[in-house]
Amino acid sequence: MTNISTPTLDAIDRSSALSFPPGFLWGAATAAYQIEGAAAVDGRTPSIWDTFSHTPGRVVEGHTGDVACDHYHRFREDVRLMADLGLKSYRFSLSWSRIQPGGSGPVNPAGVDFYQRLVDELLAHDIVPWVTLYHWDLPQELEDAGGWPLRDTAERFAEYATVAHAALGDRVRHWTTLNEPWCSAFLGYGSGTHAPGRTEAASAVRAGHHLMLGHGLATQALRAAGGQAEVGVTVNLYPVSPQTSAPADVDAARRIDGLANRFFLDPILRGEYPADLVEDLRPVSDMAHVRDGDLATISTPLDMLGINYYSRHVVAGPDPQAPAQGYWRPPSTWPGSEKVRFVNRGLPVTDMGWEIDGAGLVEILTRVHRDYPELPLYVTENGAAFTDTVVDGRVDDPQRLAYFDEHLRAAHAAISAGVPLQGYFAWSLLDNFEWAWGYTRRFGMIHVDYDSQRRIPKASAEWYAEVIRRNGLPAQ
Ligand code: FCB
Repeated sequence: MTNISTPTLDAIDRSSALSFPPGFLWGAATAAYQIEGAAAVDGRTPSIWDTFSHTPGRVVEGHTGDVACDHYHRFREDVRLMADLGLKSYRFSLSWSRIQPGGSGPVNPAGVDFYQRLVDELLAHDIVPWVTLYHWDLPQELEDAGGWPLRDTAERFAEYATVAHAALGDRVRHWTTLNEPWCSAFLGYGSGTHAPGRTEAASAVRAGHHLMLGHGLATQALRAAGGQAEVGVTVNLYPVSPQTSAPADVDAARRIDGLANRFFLDPILRGEYPADLVEDLRPVSDMAHVRDGDLATISTPLDMLGINYYSRHVVAGPDPQAPAQGYWRPPSTWPGSEKVRFVNRGLPVTDMGWEIDGAGLVEILTRVHRDYPELPLYVTENGAAFTDTVVDGRVDDPQRLAYFDEHLRAAHAAISAGVPLQGYFAWSLLDNFEWAWGYTRRFGMIHVDYDSQRRIPKASAEWYAEVIRRNGLPAQ
């Protein structure tokens, strides 16, 4: 389904003070490889991101996550900063190879101990820990064995979920299995711009399936472990709009909506792959890796769905006169990619080149609520990279602040339209290792000087603290 019109646009109140529902979960998010550092400390073994970032030419300026924000050693200071912000919840990920070096077999007590201390510190500050099991850092040994295109990786992931739950289940209630499986599958195995850097279209499709299978098996494992686990998955979604109503543009939108959104939403929430997507994928994959019972496992009912939202895709059909534009497109070897052009609309962009489009958040939230079984929804990431400068020990970041304001107004509009949106996590708490962009893109509400590791809350952090305090947005 493609939304061409944006009827909810008018619903966004761009200037009044707005209140959010009582108990709305205000948070901020990070991921292990992006902040922890301590890459070879206390028994942690390499993940695919260690290998990838240490491979020349893969990450801008050869940056790696070896040290990152040194959060592994500075987590108490970071939790204190979260408490100063008034965060109700903190979403972070576990490093699989810190907990279970090599991705299978015995648990590493030092790794478990780190996360237990972090969780205890959060709880001591009344901050709800929200754990993501997998934010892209597959243990290298599992990649060497075949990685996500291999079915066995899904089984390993479920075992790791059991291990993580045994370590933290007595004090962590909120569990996200995967972060953005689209990126793991299509950037990791398709375009090769993320670890492990493979450019194999068929492997990307298999990886996507086995990530979802791992999600389903892990969901069942977490439930079987007992306790109060509330389990969900986080997907990155984009409204996909055709540039015009011309049939070629509409078909391009259908195609990209299938690859970007419905590839994951339909199996997870409906237990089936969309027929048109399977047809589009036919030149790439016969889907023979999908076994009986897989889709039932993948669609194990969830307690919540996390949505990461950054921008919208506008696409058009082929035009020999106009080269493709946009920050993402399927690898050029991808059959069908010649049928799609990504279009820039000339809107203001962030430092990632992503167009700023708050209305797209209303659109994607209302669509998921309308088209899929009702579930509590959370925005588990939303934020913007801009270049910051420290002046007299302060960082004024009006563009990031405006981005948050616009998207929170959009979130409010979605709630007013009846979407059961229960929380919002800003990306990110701290400036950090932005994957293939290394440290050259800053998303944090808190500035990090990577030489001194000094943290400075930016103006957007002070503003967010005020939003949390009043459980709503100030008038503009
Ligand atoms: C998302 C990732 C997150 C961060 C933001 C900017 O795709 O989940 O780690 O890189 O983008």
